[in-house]
Amino acid sequence: MNGNITVLITGVTRGLGRAMAEEFARLGHTVVGCGRSEKEIAELRARLDKPHDFVVVDVASDDEVKAWAGEVLRSHGVPSLLVNNAAVINRNARLWEVSAGDFSQVLDINVKGTVSVIRHFLPAMIKAGHGVVVNFSSGWGRSTDAEVAPYCASKWAIEGLTQSLSQEVPAGLAAVALNPGIINTDMLRSCFGGSASSYPTPERWAKAAVPFLLKLGPNDNGKQLTAPGG
Ligand SMILES: NC(=O)c1ccc[n+]([C@@H]2O[C@H](COP(=O)([O-])OP(=O)(O)OC[C@H]3O[C@@H](n4cnc5c(N)ncnc54)[C@H](OP(=O)(O)O)[C@@H]3O)[C@@H](O)[C@H]2O)c1
Repeated sequence: MNGNITVLITGVTRGLGRAMAEEFARLGHTVVGCGRSEKEIAELRARLDKPHDFVVVDVASDDEVKAWAGEVLRSHGVPSLLVNNAAVINRNARLWEVSAGDFSQVLDINVKGTVSVIRHFLPAMIKAGHGVVVNFSSGWGRSTDAEVAPYCASKWAIEGLTQSLSQEVPAGLAAVALNPGIINTDMLRSCFGGSASSYPTPERWAKAAVPFLLKLGPNDNGKQLTAPGG
């Protein structure tokens, strides 16, 4: 991608989303992002001033995403890079011990939230004739482990829907699934416990991953990628 671009990132309040927002901004790009935590969004707004733009949006609400897309497309135009990063993981538990509500939450955010963002932003990208959609997958979108079945189901779904989407987007656009690697975030601490601290920090990861994301283009459509740095 050439010049300074507008990057849309979901889940910017902490972890990889936050680190990507900081790194894209540091490199001179405009970052538009969302998350549910009001305090962190307010802090981010204070830290990364206009033209950057951060708002409280729950991607699991199609109505909230729709309203956000309307605002963003009006005030920032069409993003060149759409990063579907927001996700949650179930508390470690065997599948039959996961409540219906907890299972739904993982699917509502990780899968349906990603699709809502695509539903409300991609038509404008198609009209503009360019843009890259990066759907965050996981090692657990390509392999499995015990006690994370809801999360695995959501990330295997991300891989499948991204492949299908890549067969639908017109020339000039791309949809890719990205396994970020293994990085020491709240999410990793939730499933790995104390051993998460032996993995890289999100800030260190973003230094390698952001330039990698900026190089993506139409030729990458349909790829199942793994980010450097994790
Ligand atoms: N860390 C790893 O090693 C690793 C490995 C493989 C894949 N991944 C993937 O990488 C991505 C980022 O993970 P992470 O480790 O940075 O996780 P994290 O530290 O738990 O951060 C998740 C982010 O998503 C946001 N989020 C969650 N639910 C949301 C919702 N309904 N609406 C809007 N934002 C929401 C959270 O903000 P709020 O709580 O404020 O909403 C937070 O900013 C995820 O897709 C994850 O599956 C991570």
